[in-house]
Amino acid sequence: MVANIRKKLAVLISGRGSNMEAILNATRFKDYPAKICIVISDNPEAKGLETAIKSGIEARSFKRNDYQDKASHEQAIMEAINASGADLICLAGYMRILSSDFTDTYDGRLINIHPSLLPKFKGLNTHQRAITAGEKEHGCTVHYVNSQMDGGKIISQAVVPVLEDDTADTLASRVLIEEHKLYQEVIRNLAKQ
Ligand code: GRF
Repeated sequence: MVANIRKKLAVLISGRGSNMEAILNATRFKDYPAKICIVISDNPEAKGLETAIKSGIEARSFKRNDYQDKASHEQAIMEAINASGADLICLAGYMRILSSDFTDTYDGRLINIHPSLLPKFKGLNTHQRAITAGEKEHGCTVHYVNSQMDGGKIISQAVVPVLEDDTADTLASRVLIEEHKLYQEVIRNLAKQ
């Protein structure tokens, strides 16, 4: 019998961690081809770290101020990723811009979820900017990460309508539901390869 070999995921977060939790929920299904081997945060207070710990997953935090510079901070994170044996590195609300040293190291294995239909609305406040621009459709994107912020190759997107009375919060909630499904699905597809 062929063993069920699951790809290992490192998930990087900075806060709430709802996308990380969605990935974790997907991995509970026996036929899901991936499992989380480590959750890493730059913020020791990140709620997602608690969620990971409660599920028995290795969770580590690397506070930027504990390191002399960006390079040594990233180096420590890379060492943890490498020690975990992760095949795929998933940014899920990780709020730091990564250097090209980092993105080159994991070229083709580093993905991110962004709350807009890229290439529209790179960066922050995407929901309010979509409303202000009068967009009729908005959504989320999973993409490979390179040294350009939110500029790597698009893997997949999910679309939601923008409603007349939407606020940034109502639109964000509608998009978040799709983010969770999209990230689960993209990881499933990549892990099967
Ligand atoms: C999500 O909207 C994600 O697309 C963006 O940051 C948010 C993180 O939310 N990059 P959570 O921490 O996964 O709940």
